[in-house]
Order: sequence, then structure tokens, then C-alpha cells
Amino acid sequence: MKIEVKLKDKSYFVHIDELEKIELDTKVVVVTNPTVSAFHLDTLLSKIDALECHVVTVPDGEKYKNFETINQILDECFLHRLDRKSVLIALGGGVIGDMTGFTASIYQRGIEFIQIPTTLLSAVDASVGGKTGINNKYGKNLVGSFWQPSAVYCETAFLKTLPKREFSAGMAEMIKMAVTFDRSFFEWLENNSLHVEANLQYALRECIKIKADVVSQDEREQGVRAVLNYGHTFAHVIENETKYSKYLHGEAVAIGIVMANELAFELGLLSLEDKKRVNLLLKKYDLPVEYKINNIEKFYDAFFLDKKSFNHKIKFILAKGIGGYIMKDDIEKSLIFKVLGNFS
Ligand SMILES: NC(=O)c1ccc[n+]([C@@H]2O[C@H](COP(=O)([O-])OP(=O)(O)OC[C@H]3O[C@@H](n4cnc5c(N)ncnc54)[C@H](O)[C@@H]3O)[C@@H](O)[C@H]2O)c1
Ligand SMILES: [Zn+2]
Repeated sequence: MKIEVKLKDKSYFVHIDELEKIELDTKVVVVTNPTVSAFHLDTLLSKIDALECHVVTVPDGEKYKNFETINQILDECFLHRLDRKSVLIALGGGVIGDMTGFTASIYQRGIEFIQIPTTLLSAVDASVGGKTGINNKYGKNLVGSFWQPSAVYCETAFLKTLPKREFSAGMAEMIKMAVTFDRSFFEWLENNSLHVEANLQYALRECIKIKADVVSQDEREQGVRAVLNYGHTFAHVIENETKYSKYLHGEAVAIGIVMANELAFELGLLSLEDKKRVNLLLKKYDLPVEYKINNIEKFYDAFFLDKKSFNHKIKFILAKGIGGYIMKDDIEKSLIFKVLGNFS
């Protein structure tokens, strides 16, 4: 099956379990890391039919999502004399996808690239929508571009080798989309297991439909795309406080969702029962739902370090019932303190 991401300048398809052959009469460079290549590179290479096909293997890890690695990828492009018709292919999770997209956006002022996400997080979120970014000493994803892929191929077979914890982290992003956009998908997630292959395929489709629809409406995140940051305002502070070492991003998002829901509950937007249902679903996938805030003032101040805070206002994305959302940037400081207090 395939889902179209409809954009003004460039539309493309996200294919689910449709990767049979990639035929390109151009040069291709596949970007991957040693972990992913050990599992899936041979399978991918057997499906690529190109003029020339090269592979660059970069170190595995968020800490390598930087300019040094971008230079390594660029070197490979120059070495093999890629031209403006050449194509980069990202085989990996969000880190590989973000770096490949960014390199594609700057090599000779921009060439095409294809996303082949191998984590659940990148399949449902990072690989669709064209945001690319790398980190530097000032923070995460502060350098980047909007650069849409020409196609995305999600293969459930590639996701099978994911460590359990990484799979759960991806589930947090899935639950994020269900809570804010789709009540019936949320209920489906409550009643089904994603460890059944056909179910995983269905869930991927539902999430990618949501993401594609959001991106089609708001490619540059000036409106509804910001809803995908539900849970993230809190998660970014948690990731910062724990120095990006204790939690995977999705795990921090899970805690962030719980905190955002506490705020929504205080504002009368979410019932006690719905709040509990979301917690239960997060727990079903072994995601953390508890966190101890040691210093509320410090936690609150850290909201303003987020690149999405503007004019000294924090924009909270809150669930409005299950399946709805609201964006609010005028919440009383005292109420936020009260909610943070529930976690101290
Ligand atoms: N561009 C966007 O819109 C967007 C959205 C969300 C997140 N992101 C970015 O994505 C990154 C996080 O992505 P991620 O969670 O995929 O992390 P990741 O790319 O680091 O992958 C997680 C780990 O899983 C390994 N791995 C990947 N696929 C595997 C497989 N099939 N089998 C076994 N191991 C596998 C990786 O080597 C890595 O060690 C962050 O840098 C974040 O900023 C971008
Ligand atoms: Zn996220």
C-alpha cells in the first residue's frame, strides 16, 4: 500500500511493504551505519539497480549527527563525482535520515534522496515530512533544512531486528498521533497487539496517513504541524535534565505526554478516565510514565530554552479529549507550577 504526501511543489509516496526494486539511471550513494548495515544492507543492495551504487557507513549514534559526519557523506559524493541527478538513499533510523536529507539538500544546491526508515520512530515520524537537522554545541537540530524525500519505503521486515526498547520508543510517537488526531485508532491500539505483523502494517498506515495529512496542510510548521510536538515541550526538558543518557527520545516523550495530560486535566480538557487510558496504553508498551522533578523553578525555566518558545511564551499542545487537540500559550504560571508539583 502507499500513501501520498501532497505538497504544493513536490508530492511523493510513502510505500509500506512495497520495496521490490529501486531503478535509477543515475549514481547512488547509500548512507547507513554499522548496526543497520549488518542486518539489512545486503537486502537493500540486492534491490537497487543503478548506474553506480556506493555505500558510506557512518558511526552509529545521535552524538555523530554533526557537521563532521555530514562532511564524511559529502566526501563520498565528491569522490564518486555525483552530479545533480544523483540520488542519496538513507538506510537507518532518524539520525541517518536527518543527515542524509540534510546532505542531499546542500550537495550541489540540492539533489534527490530516498528514505528507507529502519526504526519505528523514523517510519512513523522522522522519515516523512522533509525536516532535516543536525546538532552542534548550541543544541539539537539547530542546523537543518526543509528538504522533502522523493520517496519513502517502510519495510516491516526491517523493523523486526529493532531492540525492544527502540520499538517502544517509536510507540510513544504513534500514541502521540492517536491521542491528538484519531480516537478510533487510539481504541484500536488499546485492543490490538503490534507484535502481529498485519497489525504493525495497519498501524504504520494509520500513523503515516496522519503525518502525511498534517505535512500536506502545513509543510513549514506554521500551524497544525506543531501538534506533533505534543508531549515534546516537557520531553525536551527531561532529555536535557538527564543529559540525553537516561531516556531514549520516545521514552521522554511518553513522560511528556503524561505531564501534558495532567495539565489538560487541570484545565478541564481531558477527563480523569481518558488520562488513565493514555497512561495504560503507554504502559502496555513498557514506556515510562513517572518522573521526579527535583527543582520545579529550574524545570520551568528550561521551557524557554526550547527553540519553539517564542516571545517568552510557552506553547503547550494539549489533548482535548482523546482524538482532539488544542494549542495554548496563555496558561497561568501558577497552574503550570501546580502540575509540575505533582511530579516532585
Ligand atoms: N526529521 C524529523 O521530522 C524528525 C522527527 C523525529 C525525530 N527526528 C530525529 O530522529 C532521531 C532519532 O531517530 P531514531 O529514534 O530512529 O534513532 P536512531 O536513528 O539513533 O536509531 C536508534 C538505534 O537503533 C539502531 N537501529 C536502527 N534501525 C535498526 C534496525 N532495523 N535493527 C536494529 N537496530 C536498528 C540504530 O543504529 C540506533 O542505534 C533524532 O536525531 C531526532 O532528532 C527527526
Ligand atoms: Zn519526537
